[in-house]
Amino acid sequence: MKIEYRQAKDSAHMMDFQNYLNKLAVSSEVKKICEVGGGANPAIPINMIEKYGLKYTLLDISSEELAKAPNEYHKIQADISSPNLNLDGQFDLIFSIMLAEHVPNGQTFHKNTWNLLRHDGYALHLFPTMYAFPFIVNQLLPEKLSNKLLGTLAPHRITDSKKLKFPAYYSWCRGPSNNQKNKFNSLGFRVEEYIAFFGTPAYFRRSKPLNLLDEWVSSILVKYPLPLITSYAYVLLRKDVSLMN
Ligand SMILES: C[S@@+](CC[C@H](N)C(=O)[O-])C[C@H]1O[C@@H](n2cnc3c(N)ncnc32)[C@H](O)[C@@H]1O
Repeated sequence: MKIEYRQAKDSAHMMDFQNYLNKLAVSSEVKKICEVGGGANPAIPINMIEKYGLKYTLLDISSEELAKAPNEYHKIQADISSPNLNLDGQFDLIFSIMLAEHVPNGQTFHKNTWNLLRHDGYALHLFPTMYAFPFIVNQLLPEKLSNKLLGTLAPHRITDSKKLKFPAYYSWCRGPSNNQKNKFNSLGFRVEEYIAFFGTPAYFRRSKPLNLLDEWVSSILVKYPLPLITSYAYVLLRKDVSLMN
C-alpha cells in the first residue's frame, strides 16, 4: 500500500483528488462508473462522459439533490448504507466525494460498494477524517455549541451545513492507520493508495494567527506524520476476492 502525507493548504485535498479521479476515470480499465452522493454536483461533466464513452450513474439518497443535477445524467435514488440495498452493479469504478462522513455505518457502506463492483473493480473515496479539531467539535459537541464555536471561526461552513442538513458520523473516516487497512481487507478490499492531509485552513480563514498556526503544525506533521490526526484523506481500494478466503 502506498501512503503519502500532504498539506491541505489551498484545498489541495480537493484538487489532488479531482486530478486523480480524472486520470482514473479515463483509464482503459474503466468504462462503467458510479458516483455515490454526487447529487447536486456531479464530479465528472457530461462533455467528458460523452467524449470518453463512459456509462455514468449518479446514486444519491436525496431526490431533491438528484433533481439539481442536469437531466442527461442517469440517476438512482438509493441509500448506499442500506443493509437491504439491491441494485445491479458490475461497476468498474465507484467513487464518492464528501459522502463517507455522512453514512452512519461505514462497514455497510463499503460492503455495499464491494457488492456493486465487478471483479478487480476500483473504489475511490475522499472524506474528512477524525481527529482533526473542527471535525471533533462537529461530532462531539451539541449542534448549538459546535455551530457557535465553528461559526466564529468559519461562518461560511455553518451556513452550508444548515442549508444542506447532512449529519456527519465519521464512521470509518480515518487516516491511513493499520486498523483502517485491516478493516478494508476484512471486507475484501486491497488498499492500493492512501493519501492523507494535515490542516483545515478553511476553518481558520478569519483568524490570521490560527491560520498560520494551522499551516505551521501541518507542515511539521507532513514530515513527522501521525495518522490519527489527519484532516482529509482519499483512498483507492481494489476489490480482491482472494482476501475473502
Ligand atoms: C456533503 S454532500 C456532497 C455532495 C458532492 N459529492 C460534493 O462534494 O459537492 C453529501 C451528499 O451525499 C448524499 N448522501 C448522504 N447520505 C447518503 C447515503 N446514505 N446514500 C447515498 N447518498 C447519500 C447527500 O444527499 C448529498 O448529496
